[in-house]
Parts: sequence; C-alpha cells; structure tokens
Amino acid sequence: MIDLPCRIKLAQLPTPITKLQRFSRRFKDIDIWVKRDELTGTEVSGNKIRKLEFCIAEAQQQGCDTLISCGGIQSNHCRATAILGVRLGLKVHLILRGEKPEVAEGNLLLDYLSGAEITYLSQSQWQDHENFAKELQETYQSHGHKAFFIPVGASDEIGIWGYIAASEELKNDFARLAMEPEYIVTATGSGGTQAGLLVGSQLLNMRTQVAAFNVSDNAAYFEKKIEQDVTLWKQRYKQEFDIEKLNIKTVEGYLGAGYGIAGPEVFASIAELASSEGIFLDPVYTGKAFHGMVSELHKGDEGQLAGARNVVFIHTGGLFGVFPQQQNFSFN
Ligand SMILES: Cc1ncc(COP(=O)(O)O)c(C=O)c1O
Repeated sequence: MIDLPCRIKLAQLPTPITKLQRFSRRFKDIDIWVKRDELTGTEVSGNKIRKLEFCIAEAQQQGCDTLISCGGIQSNHCRATAILGVRLGLKVHLILRGEKPEVAEGNLLLDYLSGAEITYLSQSQWQDHENFAKELQETYQSHGHKAFFIPVGASDEIGIWGYIAASEELKNDFARLAMEPEYIVTATGSGGTQAGLLVGSQLLNMRTQVAAFNVSDNAAYFEKKIEQDVTLWKQRYKQEFDIEKLNIKTVEGYLGAGYGIAGPEVFASIAELASSEGIFLDPVYTGKAFHGMVSELHKGDEGQLAGARNVVFIHTGGLFGVFPQQQNFSFN
C-alpha cells in the first residue's frame, strides 16, 4: 500500500473498468479496456477530481476559505474546482485564458452556475498568470481571507497524488481481471495524470508502460514538466524515488493544429466509439488520445504501442467540452 497524505473523499471510487467488446474486434489479438474515470462523478467527472481530493485537502489543512485556479475557457479542471468549491463552502475565483465569450457554453456555463468569480486574461496577459494569481491572493488576504492557489490542471507536487493513488486502484483491477496490460494510455495536457501514473506504476512495481498522447506542447515539454513536479513531490513528501527510472513515454503526432483544435478524424473517432460502445470522448483530450492510440495499434510492431495484447485507456472525462464543438460532427 502506498502511504498517502491528507485527502478528502470527493470522487466516486473505484471507477469501473470496461472491455470494449465490439470496438476491440477491429484487432485480431488486442483487447482494449477503458478505465472509466469519466464516472468519478456527474458534474464533477473526470481526472481532475482525483487530483483535487489532495489539493483541496491541503487548502483546508492550511485554513483557506478561497480557491484560486486557472485554465482555458473550457477547462474541465476549472469547472471541477468551481463545483467542488461551492459544495465545500469555499469561494472560487477562476482566471481564464481568453476573451469573455458572448455565450457561456459547456464547462463555462457550469462555472457561472456554480457561482465562481471569473477574471479573463488576454493571451498576452496569460504569460504572467501565476503572478496575477499571487496578487489576487494578496488582495484576498487584505480583505481577511486566505486563498489557496491550484495551478493549471492541478498538475503539481500535490495534485500528482491523484494518479499515484489511482495506480493502486488499477493494480487491483488488473489482479481481479487476471491481466497485466502492456500499456496504460492517457491524454496528457498539463502532465499531472501522466506523472502520477508513472510514479505510481514505479512504486508498485507494475510492468505496464504508461504511454501518454500529448494534446498540447511536445514530448520535451512533458519530460521537463514531469521531472520538475516529481522532484518537488520528492522534496515535499520526503520520498525515496529514483527519477532516472521514470520511463517517460510521450507519443507525439496527434496534437493536430493545436490545443483544443481537432481534425475530422478525431470527431469520427468520437462518433465511432459512441455508436459502438456508448462511451463518449471529447475533442480536446480523450478523443485525440483515443484516436492516437487506435492509429498506433493499427501500425502493429511498427507503432508506438508495439507488442500490445491488452491496453487500458484512461477515460479522463471532458464530456462538457463536446457541446461547444458540436458543429464539427459530420452529421451536422
Ligand atoms: C478531460 C481531460 N483529459 C485529460 C486531461 C489531461 O490531464 P493532465 O492535465 O493531468 O495532463 C485533462 C486536463 O486538462 C482533461 O480535462
């Protein structure tokens, strides 16, 4: 058992793991499984809630009454923070990247409904958003409040615990199913899910390799970000851990035109999985990663997932991000 720091139970755990009975028939010798982390909740679904169990516990331990966090306008993480904050009686202030849209859709609609205060920063102001957050913390302090800052995607040395703990859950799933997948596949955006899975699988001596498909930045960025976060995690929690042994595998080639912009192949993959299995992906994260995974599996031993017999795709959520992009499905 991994010794975990303080945590509040917020997610519906353990999440189910489902074999894609029909979809897997596309492959002769491969079974694709989905770890259903989109079912960690309804409004607060997805991977962020696992990380926030640790970040918000830390905020409460420090006596904070306010959460400040940041991300894109359709940030799933910000939506989860807004909803969990209001449920726990905490004020939430979100710093979002971009102009205020005319209509609040998808995640942003839920941010507003949850009563979060929102500040929009232009693309150029965004470069400095962490300093902006610090100033905001000081403003709250001068008004007698204590605000806790959670960085983009809750990907830091605290949030990393979410998927370290999830690795234990996965290990139990694999034991129950008597299968040891060659690969665990995830989308990677701010790096915390990938980092947590890498550390967790290492701590638990799992043979499974974590393969992350980047939906922003590039492999070099994630290598650096993960090494930084794991170093801070080691220091903060006094962990013995050999960073050299982190087997970071970021699969490039499926980002497309950029973060949040998906090509027709991604929308087709979303529709294909929905119509064959009743499982819904999103165009920003899971759709790109799933499309990437399937493309690499089709390449067989020439691909990035060579030797795969059982592959576990982590469904990290994101459904609310489908609606602002619904016009991109081909039946429209
Ligand atoms: C639905 C969804 N999947 C995957 C990710 C990527 O996770 P991470 O930020 O931990 O890399 C995110 C985060 O933004 C997300 O919202």
